[in-house]
Amino acid sequence: MKTLIQNGYVLDPESKREGKYDVLIEDEKIIKMAEQITDDADKVLDASGCYVMPGFIDLHVHLRDPGLEYKETLETGGKAAARGGVTTICAMPNTKPVVDNGEKVLDVHNRAKTDSPVHVIQIGAITIGQQGQELADIEGMAKAGCHAISEDGKSVMNASLYRQAMKLAKDNEISIFAHCEDITMVEGGVMHADEKAQALGLKGITNAVEDVIVARDILLAKETGVRLHLCHCSTEDSVKLVEAAKKEGLPVTAEVCPHHFAMTTDDITEDDGNFKMNPPLRGKRDVEALKAGLKADIMDVIATDHAPHAAEEKNCSMTKAAFGIVGLETMASLTYTELVETGVITPMQMAEKTSYNPARILGLDEKGAIAEGKIADIVVFDPTVEYVIDKNTFYSKGKNTPFHGRKVKGEIRYTLVDGNVVYEG
Ligand code: DOR
Ligand code: ZN
Ligand code: ZN
Repeated sequence: MKTLIQNGYVLDPESKREGKYDVLIEDEKIIKMAEQITDDADKVLDASGCYVMPGFIDLHVHLRDPGLEYKETLETGGKAAARGGVTTICAMPNTKPVVDNGEKVLDVHNRAKTDSPVHVIQIGAITIGQQGQELADIEGMAKAGCHAISEDGKSVMNASLYRQAMKLAKDNEISIFAHCEDITMVEGGVMHADEKAQALGLKGITNAVEDVIVARDILLAKETGVRLHLCHCSTEDSVKLVEAAKKEGLPVTAEVCPHHFAMTTDDITEDDGNFKMNPPLRGKRDVEALKAGLKADIMDVIATDHAPHAAEEKNCSMTKAAFGIVGLETMASLTYTELVETGVITPMQMAEKTSYNPARILGLDEKGAIAEGKIADIVVFDPTVEYVIDKNTFYSKGKNTPFHGRKVKGEIRYTLVDGNVVYEG
C-alpha cells in the first residue's frame, strides 16, 4: 500500500529541512521525499497550503482507562488524539487501579492495539497505588515498555523514597516525569493566588507550591543522574530553574501546556470549575516567562495534560470541581495561534516541541521526523482555517475546556499513523 502526500510544506525537525516536498509512504514507512514525486500510489493526499509535520507526540495524557471509563477510554481518547494530530500518547498511571506493575502496563498496551487509532505508551506509577509509601515494580514496568514513571496528580513527598525510585529508573534506562507540587503547601487552594482569587473569594495556590519541588527534583536528578522531565511548568521561577539546570548540563527537560501559555487568571470571568486545573492558570508575568522560555528552547515540549472529567465534576464552583481540562483537540490550534502566528516560536520549533523533542525523551529513534526510513506518523496541518472552538464537536468524552468559544487558527487536515489515515478533517 502506497500513499503520496502532495504539495505540502514539510517541516523536518531532525534535519531542520523545510520546504515544498512530496512525501511517499509505503506501508508504515516513509520511503521517499522529493520536490516532485510521480510514482504511482494507491492513495494521494492533497496537502496544498498545509504544513506536513511529524505526528504530535503528547507526553502527558490522562486516558482514564482502566476504571474511570465514564470520563474517557482508550478508544475515545485515541480518537480525540487522532483528531488533534497526535499520533502517540503517553498515558498517565492515575487510573483505577493505578498502573504500578508490568502486567497492568501490558494490559493497556494490548488493549490499545485494538481500541486506539493512535499509539499508546503507558507511563508507570512511582509508588504502589500512588500512595507514596512503597516503590512500584519499576523494573517490571520498564521491561513491559514503560519509557517513564510518574506519580502525576501529586508529587512523591518522601524525598528519600523518590531518590530510590530515581536510581532504579536510571538503572532501567527510563525517565521520571515529574508533577511538581508540595502538597503540604496547597492548603485547599483551587486557583492561582492573586487578586482574582481574592475577588472571587477562592483559596490560592502560590508559585512556590510548584517551585520548591522543581528545585528539589532538579537537585535529586543531579545526585542520581536520572533523566528528569518536568511536567506542566507554569511559573517564572520554574523556567529559571530549568535554565540553570541546563547550564549545568543536567539531563533535565521541561514541558508547558497550551492553557498555561494561552490564558492568564485575567481570563477567569467567574467561579467556573472549567478554569480549574493543577497547576493553575497563572499571572501575566509567568505567562510571559513561559513564552520566552519556549522561544529560547529552555522549555522543550508542548504537552496537553489532557484531563477529561464528567460534566457534573466540572460544571460547578472551583471549590468543588475536579482539577483538569481536556486538551488533545485544541493543542495544535492554540499552539499555532498563540505562539506561531504571534512570532513567539517558528513553525519548525512547533514541530520540535510537539514531536521531535518528545520522541528524543522517549527514545523513539524512528519518530519525530519526516525523512526516508522513518515511521509514517504524520500530521497535515492547515494553518489558514479560522474557527471558533466548540466543545460539542470533541471526540473526547470530556467537554471540560475553558476554551469553548475561543477564536483560533489552524486545523488538522489529515492524521496518519503507521502510514494509515486515521483522521481526515
Ligand atoms: O489538572 C490536573 N488533572 N492535574 C493533574 O495533575 C492531574 C490531572 C487529572 O488526573 O485529572
Ligand atoms: Zn500533574
Ligand atoms: Zn496530568
